[in-house]
Amino acid sequence: MNFKGKTAVVTGASSGIGLGYAQELAARGANLVLVARSKAQLEKIAAEIQTKNSVNVQVIAQDLSTPESGQKLLDALNDLKISPDILINNAGFGTNNRVSKENREKIRQEITLNVVTLVDLTAGVLPGMLDRDFGVIINIGSTASFQPVPGMAVYAATKAFVRSFTSALWGEVRGTNVRVLTVNPGATSTEFFNVAEAKPAGALAPVSEVISATFKALERKNSSPSIVVGGQNAFMAGFTRFVPTKAVINIAAKLFLH
Ligand SMILES: NC(=O)c1ccc[n+]([C@@H]2O[C@H](COP(=O)([O-])OP(=O)(O)OC[C@H]3O[C@@H](n4cnc5c(N)ncnc54)[C@H](OP(=O)(O)O)[C@@H]3O)[C@@H](O)[C@H]2O)c1
Repeated sequence: MNFKGKTAVVTGASSGIGLGYAQELAARGANLVLVARSKAQLEKIAAEIQTKNSVNVQVIAQDLSTPESGQKLLDALNDLKISPDILINNAGFGTNNRVSKENREKIRQEITLNVVTLVDLTAGVLPGMLDRDFGVIINIGSTASFQPVPGMAVYAATKAFVRSFTSALWGEVRGTNVRVLTVNPGATSTEFFNVAEAKPAGALAPVSEVISATFKALERKNSSPSIVVGGQNAFMAGFTRFVPTKAVINIAAKLFLH
């Protein structure tokens, strides 16, 4: 797949996995629109990427966790006369608390960012991609999408939604040159666990593993709707299908319920 001269919108590009996608896409010649709340950080990253690569990088500093966020970002892209060829729906966060103890406003924002904005942006850019018969939509799921997680109930459910939604969409765009893919990372070395105030269950993989697994999947002729990053994570995700749900929930609770 040739990304040279294409335009990629990356949400959550100010750190972690989103930053990794932005750097890789620029190295492959794509122009970028970087989206997150931290304007100064995005501008610093944009300057660094532009120094290294001859691509155009624009920044949109915006909160994506309100019901109007998707439309607001689509309007901002429209004002910039940008029709994205690539959309990386990566911005997201998790909460690690019992539902009974969690701040309800925080979980509303979590669902809105991880699910509502992701769907709205996908639905907003898809018609243009289908008209031009080219597009890539990467939605970031998680290995948390493969089982309910007591202690991270809302987060795991948002990621299960992302995977189900994206897989169904994969079935809708089959036969076109629009590729949609859920990328499900396991624990990865980013700000995620600090933000979630959670402890990772195991070792943290580098962001580069997520990025290289994504581009490998895109290069495959036989596209798949969803990938799990890392052999051990893929094994565990498959394993949950063969173990009684109660047992899976109990294991997840041991790791994340406190
Ligand atoms: N790290 C892991 O172990 C792991 C595993 C599986 C899946 N994931 C998923 O990977 C994705 C990226 O997370 P990460 O691990 O790279 O964590 P991260 O380093 O915390 O990055 C999260 C990104 O999302 C942005 N963001 C957060 N809230 C936002 C909001 N309200 N509006 C706009 N942007 C917002 C952040 O930027 P600002 O704060 O500047 O807005 C940041 O750029 C998430 O969807 C996460 O669920 C992570």
